[in-house]
Amino acid sequence: MPSMKPQVFQINRRRFLKSAAAITAATGVPGWFLEIEEAHAAQSKPLGPNDRPGIALVGCGSQGRGDSRGAARFADVLAVCDVDDSHAEAAAKQFAKGGTVPQKYNDFRKLMEREDIHGIINGTPDHWHTFVNLLAVKTGKDVYTEKPLTLTIDEGKHLVKSVRDNKRIVQVGSQQRSDRNFRLACELVRNGRLGKLQHMIVGLPTGPDEGPFPEKPVPAGLNWDYYVGQAPLTPYKVTNCHGNFRWWYGFSGGQMTDWGAHHNDIAQWGNGTERSGPVEIDGKSLKELISGGYETASKYRVDCKYSNGVTMTIVDESTVTDRNVVGGGKTTPNGVQFIGPDGWIFVARGKIQASNEELLRKPLPESAIRLYNSSNHMGNFFESMRSRKEPICDVEIGHRSIAVAHLGVISIRMKQPVKWNPEEEEFAGENAKEANKWLAREQRKPYDYSFIA
Ligand SMILES: NC(=O)c1ccc[n+]([C@@H]2O[C@H](COP(=O)([O-])OP(=O)(O)OC[C@H]3O[C@@H](n4cnc5c(N)ncnc54)[C@H](O)[C@@H]3O)[C@@H](O)[C@H]2O)c1
Repeated sequence: MPSMKPQVFQINRRRFLKSAAAITAATGVPGWFLEIEEAHAAQSKPLGPNDRPGIALVGCGSQGRGDSRGAARFADVLAVCDVDDSHAEAAAKQFAKGGTVPQKYNDFRKLMEREDIHGIINGTPDHWHTFVNLLAVKTGKDVYTEKPLTLTIDEGKHLVKSVRDNKRIVQVGSQQRSDRNFRLACELVRNGRLGKLQHMIVGLPTGPDEGPFPEKPVPAGLNWDYYVGQAPLTPYKVTNCHGNFRWWYGFSGGQMTDWGAHHNDIAQWGNGTERSGPVEIDGKSLKELISGGYETASKYRVDCKYSNGVTMTIVDESTVTDRNVVGGGKTTPNGVQFIGPDGWIFVARGKIQASNEELLRKPLPESAIRLYNSSNHMGNFFESMRSRKEPICDVEIGHRSIAVAHLGVISIRMKQPVKWNPEEEEFAGENAKEANKWLAREQRKPYDYSFIA
């Protein structure tokens, strides 16, 4: 839970000074901030040798296996599951330990019946996240789930309720929250370092713009019907499966939801709206889609307004706004720009910059608002499994962050600005009735909610 109280830390100053100078030089993170971080790390209780829970990986692609490599430091991988046999096989081999090979499954519902599995790593494509997560929490498991948390806003509402009803821990894989650069930027902004925050620019990658693609035979060992799941059944094409699912609307929302899940999360954190959302959203696709090609916008711009008066523009990197403060007027760099009357702060992976170095250098006072401090996103999940306290990217935060991206996609697809009521989580204004139809999608049978009942 975010701590709002000033905290007092004991630190070993000599040890701190040695490493801090190098980190400050490389990343721009000031020494005073590292000092607090160091003290926090020293206070964290490491997991004991008997604290190793049993976990299972569902969705054994590149990210799921990467996550599980991190999780294997804290837990034993007892089972793996994939609708592609070759992926399940590769993961079982990877996580075999001391002669014990994780059991393979091709239907996650079977795996959830096991009582020796306490946690799930969910590395499935976006359109499967909610089903896996819902069943996991209903069967008493905690979850580390990849972002984007959901395919629709309606899924998020269901999931948040179910997580709370079942008293489960869900950590969303928006790992930038556990990266000091992002926390520093958000803490400074939240404490008024820029004056009253006025505007945020979220720079996301430009999406691929390719196609049309030919149909291909489904590879042996891949259950394509199950893979497609709730989405409308489409022919297999290689370019709509492993890794590339995110450019197809049935499975995802393109870069708006893929990278948007990361950077919108940071913008909402800095703006103090991580459990709320914007009230006005005006999204536009800036390039026509190729017929038969990828179905999600490659170039796009979404202008949002929050009830606190802060405005936000989400754009792909090739699009420049009149308020860009970094990027030299030619691109919008991948990251988040916070702008206020007293200057700006730009934060990205491995980088933090400000209009004036003093904005970063001057320490925050003892009484400053301190945000939730985690330096290891996966480690934080296992800490929460043990303490039953909220992880740094709790399910509601993940839901609200991705809702911003879903709202942008909805406005783009409706070709109209929309108004949003973040308290009721429903659209408002003149076109509310039409917009509310976009909150959920039709789920193809048998892959609707009854699939996991
Ligand atoms: N946090 C990050 O920085 C980050 C980075 C990359 C990907 N991701 C996220 O991780 C997720 C997976 O992405 P990826 O790049 O690893 O994709 P991928 O295509 O490599 O892997 C997805 C795997 O899930 C399997 N799968 C599909 N449906 C399934 C089902 N119903 N049950 C079990 N397995 C199923 C696929 O066969 C595949 O092996 C995505 O949601 C993506 O957004 C997050």
